[in-house]
Amino acid sequence: MTVDASILCALREMSWGVSGAELSRQLGMTRAGVWGHIEQLRALGYDIEASPHRGYRLLSSPDSLHADDLYSRLGLTRVIGREIHVFQETTSTNDVAARLARGEAREGAVVFAESQSKGRGRMGRVWLSPAGKGLWFTVLLRPNIAPAGATQLTIAAATALARAITLQTGIVPDIKWPNDILIRGRKVAGILTEMSAELDHLKDLLLGIGMDVNLETEDFPAALRQTATSLAIETGAKVNRSELAVAILRELDRDYDLINKGHFEVLAEQWQERCSTLGREVSIRVGDRVIRGQAESLDDDGALLVRGAHGHLERIIGGDVTVG
Ligand code: BTN
Repeated sequence: MTVDASILCALREMSWGVSGAELSRQLGMTRAGVWGHIEQLRALGYDIEASPHRGYRLLSSPDSLHADDLYSRLGLTRVIGREIHVFQETTSTNDVAARLARGEAREGAVVFAESQSKGRGRMGRVWLSPAGKGLWFTVLLRPNIAPAGATQLTIAAATALARAITLQTGIVPDIKWPNDILIRGRKVAGILTEMSAELDHLKDLLLGIGMDVNLETEDFPAALRQTATSLAIETGAKVNRSELAVAILRELDRDYDLINKGHFEVLAEQWQERCSTLGREVSIRVGDRVIRGQAESLDDDGALLVRGAHGHLERIIGGDVTVG
């Protein structure tokens, strides 16, 4: 952990106040050194009180994403979030993560951006990513599975997102196969999974996650207002993006561990409980083809099993689902 992350961690743990002497002991630096870091954090918008009696106290944190702040809230995880990068603006966090993946980035590295100029969704769609209103980020994974199993990771991300939303807001969202998170039928988050693979082996898998957190109705273009929503619209209050981000990373870390231990079925079960697609008549566009039938279940790789009109079962690994 960096010095700033350690200071934020100590301030959060000792919310009643921590003395300069104690911080300088914990960090192995002079009190003047500690003071310098406190001043830097203040300049970033952290409201830190310094009093002779109580020492330093964190009164509030800014509504912006900082890697040190995220480290300090996240603590230790197995894989996800061991490396965190935050950009003010990027083209797409998936592009940045792909570049990092070709370099030295560790599995579990996460790239956040406050805004994206070329955020993209599935099927070549544009993904709206206004500054400071949402969570736009990409997680780099190197799972030891065949490319056909990549849908498992999308399913894991969807269940992690749904659980994190419930933990932070109390709302229980639905999941639409494979990767849309819906509240009252409107989309609040989506996942863009991209990968580089060899024939039988996945190399880098990028889980690009977009969540509409604090967007207001006016922030959405008119064409999306009937189909998209945000957590702020649904709860009637602003949601703390850093806390939510950390909750998602923790839940995802848990899910990824289950997949690595060969327990995808636990996630598949959770997913099926939350899924609004199963048991429904669906049309799925896969390239130029449209497949119609009843969505029955998930298989071991996370593919959707659809019973067609003639009773045969189709295995769908990707596509655009319309329910009804
Ligand atoms: C979808 O179509 O539902 C997927 C949307 C994924 C958007 C996220 S935002 C972070 C990452 N970077 C991108 O350009 N896209 C994904």
